[in-house]
Amino acid sequence: MDFLPIFVDIRGKHCLVVGGSDVAARKASLLLNAGAKVTVVAPELAAPFKDLPGQERLQHRIGSFDPTLLDGVELVMCALEDKNAARIVADAAKARHLPVNVVDTPELCSFIMPSIIDRSPILIAITSGGASPVLARMLRARLESMIPSAYGRLSALAAQFRDKVKAKFSRSENRRMFWEKVFQGPVAEMVFAGQDKAAAEVLESLIANEIEPDTNMGEVYLVGGGPGNPDLLTFRALRLMQQADVVVYDNLVSPGVLEMSRRDADRIYVGKKRDNHALPQEGINELLVRLAKEGKRVLRLKGGDPFIFGRGGEEIETLAANKVPFQVVPGITAASGVASYAGIPLTHREHAQACVFVTGHLKDGTMNLDWDMLARPHQTIVIYMGLHGLPVLCEKLIAHGLTKDTPAAIVQQGTTSKQRVVTGTLSTLPGIAAEAKLHAPTLIIVGTVVTLHEKLKWFNPKESQDLLDAAPLEG
Ligand SMILES: C[S@@+](CC[C@H](N)C(=O)[O-])C[C@H]1O[C@@H](n2cnc3c(N)ncnc32)[C@H](O)[C@@H]1O
Repeated sequence: MDFLPIFVDIRGKHCLVVGGSDVAARKASLLLNAGAKVTVVAPELAAPFKDLPGQERLQHRIGSFDPTLLDGVELVMCALEDKNAARIVADAAKARHLPVNVVDTPELCSFIMPSIIDRSPILIAITSGGASPVLARMLRARLESMIPSAYGRLSALAAQFRDKVKAKFSRSENRRMFWEKVFQGPVAEMVFAGQDKAAAEVLESLIANEIEPDTNMGEVYLVGGGPGNPDLLTFRALRLMQQADVVVYDNLVSPGVLEMSRRDADRIYVGKKRDNHALPQEGINELLVRLAKEGKRVLRLKGGDPFIFGRGGEEIETLAANKVPFQVVPGITAASGVASYAGIPLTHREHAQACVFVTGHLKDGTMNLDWDMLARPHQTIVIYMGLHGLPVLCEKLIAHGLTKDTPAAIVQQGTTSKQRVVTGTLSTLPGIAAEAKLHAPTLIIVGTVVTLHEKLKWFNPKESQDLLDAAPLEG
């Protein structure tokens, strides 16, 4: 982080605003809203100053900046257009170790002002650290539209009942569960609908009637994290990722996706690279049960979709057998994500009316697949985990009836900034792939749909976007 985001209590504190322009009025307004006593020094004040709330805490000193004005002040905002004059203010403030912000002049600032979403008591501050204020403002606009203004009132209502809930539920885990239910249930809906009084009554009776559960059972969220690009997560995945206390993840989960989970959640890496399982599957199954029985909300985060070559079924079978509650969130499977980002439709009226997904895992140097079923015309074959077995795969498909010049592609780290697409035919692809020194994770697509890639490729991966990179898994 280039900056430390903090929220400062300036209620009743003296702050100095230097300048009397409209911009200065906006700065003064923020300070007054946060409860500060504000002195504005300027020859004259722009009209908006007259309408600022908290006029009784606003004082106008007619004139220009003088360092003695800093006496007793705890924070300085400067909105002077003259950069030399602004520098004098900034230097004087810094000499006294006072936090100072100079409008539009980051090099003179000791702190910067974020874009703010005010749902008091909830406050959200956004900054791009000066890199792109427009982007920060756009993000703010998006969040503004997503977070109803009533969230502030909901939070204030919760504050009123905090002590009662604390007295009712001794365990913090149970308090958390209670509040989650409140924030996702009718009480919240009533506040959103403006029925605050009714909401308070319902909340009161909920507290009175709720019985503290004596079992301390957690829950497991089996979540598909998609093929690597965090933009491809579902809303539900994101919500549960933000909620979980512990994240159990494996190798295919990209750093960018992992980053979207709750910041203070424990993270447990359970591996699964080719021939290098950090924890065997049974161990993972047992780990999930144990964590849930400790009362934790466990995010079992998997690459792609948990039910497609993800062993998600086995994991929830163990949970079901142990009576651990769970929910499953589908993710975009590699076939779907990678094909889209490579511009290779998996079905197409003129090329393929069917599509099969298989795993190309080599066992004893061969693959145990139904070759006759695969080597059919008008069908796309998608092979997961096939990089190491690619020569065997192509050989077998040709031996079972596909022509040597059947188009085929191999895509490395699809959907991410490191995506690479290599195309050829069943006879040429193994050689081309070896030459390209591809590494896992890769997906192989076989069928005439591959010819569409040249025309339909649209995604330009950018090497610089490291956050989106998928870590390799088995090929
Ligand atoms: C164990 S499987 C898990 C599949 C996952 N459950 C899914 O639905 O995508 C791992 C394989 O998925 C494929 N894969 C996953 N993400 C990929 C990506 N971003 N690019 C290419 N292949 C990918 C690779 O073949 C990799 O070896």
